[in-house]
Amino acid sequence: MSSFIRSALSGVFALAVITGHASAAPMQSSAANMTKTDQVPFKFPLDNGFPNIKLGSDAFKQIQWEAHGTLPNTPLPTTISDGTAGILQVIAFGEIFEVALFQSLVNNITNNVPGYAIGESTAGRNMILETLKAVVAQEELHYIGANAILASAGRATIEPCSYVFPSTNFDDAITFASTVGDLVLGILQEVAHDFAANGDGELVPLITSVIGQEGEQNGFYRFSRGRVPSSLPFLTAGSGSFGLSSILQNIAVPGSCPSLGLIKAPVFEPLTILSTPISECTSEVWFSIKSKLTKTDDLRLVYINQQNAPVVNTLNNVTINDGTITFSAPFEFYKFTLNGLTIAAVTKSAGPFTNATEVAAHTSFGPGLIEIN
Ligand SMILES: *[C@@H]1O[C@H](CO)[C@@H](O)[C@H](O)[C@H]1NC(C)=O
Ligand SMILES: *[C@@H]1O[C@H](CO)[C@@H](O)[C@H](O)[C@H]1NC(C)=O
Ligand SMILES: *[C@@H]1O[C@H](CO)[C@@H](O)[C@H](O)[C@H]1NC(C)=O
Ligand SMILES: *[C@@H]1O[C@H](CO)[C@@H](O)[C@H](O)[C@H]1NC(C)=O
Repeated sequence: MSSFIRSALSGVFALAVITGHASAAPMQSSAANMTKTDQVPFKFPLDNGFPNIKLGSDAFKQIQWEAHGTLPNTPLPTTISDGTAGILQVIAFGEIFEVALFQSLVNNITNNVPGYAIGESTAGRNMILETLKAVVAQEELHYIGANAILASAGRATIEPCSYVFPSTNFDDAITFASTVGDLVLGILQEVAHDFAANGDGELVPLITSVIGQEGEQNGFYRFSRGRVPSSLPFLTAGSGSFGLSSILQNIAVPGSCPSLGLIKAPVFEPLTILSTPISECTSEVWFSIKSKLTKTDDLRLVYINQQNAPVVNTLNNVTINDGTITFSAPFEFYKFTLNGLTIAAVTKSAGPFTNATEVAAHTSFGPGLIEIN
């Protein structure tokens, strides 16, 4: 190992220790409680003109250079199924949110915004900035690539929203980025399945190359928080609507998404996680939803973790008060080994559910995002 890498890594590690990344950070409650009005939204375009980038232009070549690689140079498909077009639109919607998140983080670190001054000119800071700048360009290419396939196949492309983020310091931003990464890594499993099921199997290698790429990123975020880079043997499954709902409930400024009308995937009502922090020792998690329902007998609280059968719970300790329903559900960490991401959702079906896609198909409120270790 070169002495540069060693000192850079010890810098990252020192940061993790100094800033206390290793402690459990309750990202789910800060996101759920975020107010969207008291922050300056992050808006496009960026200084390089993104997202208004012509394929082959100088700005495009510069993005490829910063991304350490290129968009695939093989011909784009000219026909795709309706289902695949819908999925690529959701992907583009998510990828440009990721560009915004990482560009905002790069800006904050570069400008030493209070909470983001992670040590002037240390090897660790330089390594983190170099990493995040590559990630911004790589996410830009993921977005440009999804839109390029849509355009080539004669489908509508996706424009950005304005965004506010739940984080106001470096630790929370990396924790949030890691949770976003886990959610994306779950959704892309469903994407690969659906591309194949829709007869667009030639897109499966492309999407699995992105799955690995997002996994590499998340290993870094986890490591810089003092966690084992690989969270689980089989990463938690997801579904496109969980990601879409999460962005629209917590991050996108309401009314700022010109492309929302194109997207057909369902958007759920929020599920607020009241318990914080949640750890191995938590045996019961408290939630709330806003609803006019007067009884909850038909509702279930479902957990999705790893590739296991979703865990279905009845609602405990229900109170209904002026449009807010508060309840708890057991959280059996040791029975199910609930490390990494657990997605919580309230369904209007008792299941049983085979997988995350089936849970999403019956979800009314969600997702709640729980991260352990
Ligand atoms: C979260 O929001 C609720 C409802 O607005 C409020 O009662 C509570 O105090 C907030 N919690 C924090 C930690 O800000
Ligand atoms: C960047 O800083 C601003 C101002 O503190 C904050 O509102 C925003 O959430 C930060 N961005 C990230 C990704 O943490
Ligand atoms: C989910 O389960 C259903 C029903 O068994 C199945 O048809 C579908 O292929 C599964 N989807 C995924 C993404 O595994
Ligand atoms: C909530 O309900 C469950 C089961 O009905 C019970 O085991 C648990 O102790 C209750 N929690 C509280 C804080 O009352």
